[in-house]
Amino acid sequence: MRYPATAKTATLSLILLLLGGRLQVNADEEDPVLRAQGAMRVGKDNAIVPDASSDHPLIVSNPEDQPLCEPNAIIEPSQPLQVMEGYDAFVLTNVQGPRKVVVDAANHALVTSSEGLVSIRMDKCGNVEKTTLLSDLGDDGAVAYGVTLYDGNLYVASPNSVWRFNYVDGQHSLLSDGFQVLRNLHGTGNEDIAIDPFGHAYFPRHATDVNDDHSSSKQAIIKRFNFRRVPSDGYDFEEDGETFAHGTNVHGAMAFDAQARLWGLDSPYPSFEREDLGGALAPNGVAEEMNLYEFPYKNYGYPYCFTEYDLQPYTAASKGKGAQWGHPSQMNDTMDLDDYCSQDENNRRPAVPLTPNSGAHAMFFFMGTFCSVGDKQTLGTSVGMPCNWTDTPIVAYRGYPGQAEGHRVTHIPFDDLGHVPQWDRPEDLIFKAANDCQEGSACLTPTGLDVDEFGRLIIASEETNEIFMIKRQYNQNAAKLMTAKMDAKEEMEERLEELKEEKLEAQAEGLDVDDDDEEEEEEEEMDLDPESKQQIDNNDAPAMLDTKKSKNKISIIDN
Ligand SMILES: *[C@@H]1O[C@H](CO)[C@@H](O)[C@H](O)[C@H]1NC(C)=O
Ligand SMILES: *[C@@H]1O[C@H](CO)[C@@H](O)[C@H](O)[C@H]1NC(C)=O
Repeated sequence: MRYPATAKTATLSLILLLLGGRLQVNADEEDPVLRAQGAMRVGKDNAIVPDASSDHPLIVSNPEDQPLCEPNAIIEPSQPLQVMEGYDAFVLTNVQGPRKVVVDAANHALVTSSEGLVSIRMDKCGNVEKTTLLSDLGDDGAVAYGVTLYDGNLYVASPNSVWRFNYVDGQHSLLSDGFQVLRNLHGTGNEDIAIDPFGHAYFPRHATDVNDDHSSSKQAIIKRFNFRRVPSDGYDFEEDGETFAHGTNVHGAMAFDAQARLWGLDSPYPSFEREDLGGALAPNGVAEEMNLYEFPYKNYGYPYCFTEYDLQPYTAASKGKGAQWGHPSQMNDTMDLDDYCSQDENNRRPAVPLTPNSGAHAMFFFMGTFCSVGDKQTLGTSVGMPCNWTDTPIVAYRGYPGQAEGHRVTHIPFDDLGHVPQWDRPEDLIFKAANDCQEGSACLTPTGLDVDEFGRLIIASEETNEIFMIKRQYNQNAAKLMTAKMDAKEEMEERLEELKEEKLEAQAEGLDVDDDDEEEEEEEEMDLDPESKQQIDNNDAPAMLDTKKSKNKISIIDN
């Protein structure tokens, strides 16, 4: 198994090494040994990732391993912040117009920005040293959004080209001797370069106008290039590579999941009207899209089709979240575009229809680096993001221009086993401004994300020139408390099971022991109300009794 050399994958490899030394690994997802060690297999490639639902997730909870000190100088945030309960946010540093963030294997954060490509070296406490690795790309213009690491090289995009530089993790000096690997992008400067473990490089081209001619297939596409073997004069976007996806309007950060499948965010359609569906469908009718480009050469519908978020307020014809409809600019009498769009072979629907008018701008998959378990009472076993977020996406919404709300970072809930996004569950809000954005002042505009080696989330906010860090509140006793809770639950389960069996036996013997009332009382006593539960937790009393979930399988993170 190979991964791009980033901090998170380096950690993952370390885990794999440790596991590999001890385990005979087979392809069985239910492998009891693997599960007990806190890892599981996912996907076709049988990638091993930490499994939060196992009895012993791979967690690093020693205090001496945690970054618990504070930076010497506190930087005031530009505005009051709201952070997910049990987590803290602080300003790591300021960078002018920061955009995409990538953390290397030496825990340096590389940020594309209006200052160029900036390297942020951090110590454990969050003290920062910044340096500019690259101020611009010469004749090719400014450093644009896209940056990525692959196989000992750093790839940086300008609006018109992608450049390759030799790079050593932790390098804190000017990049030199760049080589132009890809030219003629004619981009907007918002595109990302993504390279999978096999050296396939993906680069999107926007549709510039919904009414343009799309038959040429030269826009609203993602092209794929082999970056393991780049021709001596580089690639030409117009002539070379293959069109990997059609009908996409990708912008901002793309991402790979644990199976190295490509994901991306589609730019929203400008607002439009469809008279037969109730006129102007903004703001709630039309979804933004998170797409999974699982198979090559598919069409994702742009600009012919749009995705319903919720058309109920507009029309009784609403088909529900994710339904596909024809875009009015492309409709005519000779073809039923709604029907056309509903068919998968013409148009793939998004993996996740996102809230309208959010300006989704970056996504990445958390790979379980330094992950934590715990709940509101125990706090976290580490400062990292939760283990049960492993191989699921975190999204940065920069917000919609002119809109006071919606600038935020969220986690998209996935179902554990099937690795399927759960549309019916609300997104977990991680981070936003506490107050609506005031006209005339800079809004919090999350545009880039990654985690550092301690599983802490790093977020770039372009308009406010801030780089934030989000960490979980750590408690040295969290693991012990969680274990005690789990044991108590298990005991409780067993006790209830016994009671049931006793009762069944009694009934089978035809004895009318009339112990029903007694049993109910007993159950009631055990089923503590939330307030007394809180008290017990605050007293750090480990023996928690909660019968509510006793029928569910117990896992350490099941709180
Ligand atoms: C009708 O619309 C479809 C889909 O947009 C298009 O392919 C077709 O060429 C159009 N036909 C006419 C006669 O305009
Ligand atoms: C994931 O873990 C967190 C605590 O770490 C918990 O609050 C949350 O409910 C869990 N989510 C799922 C889907 O189990």
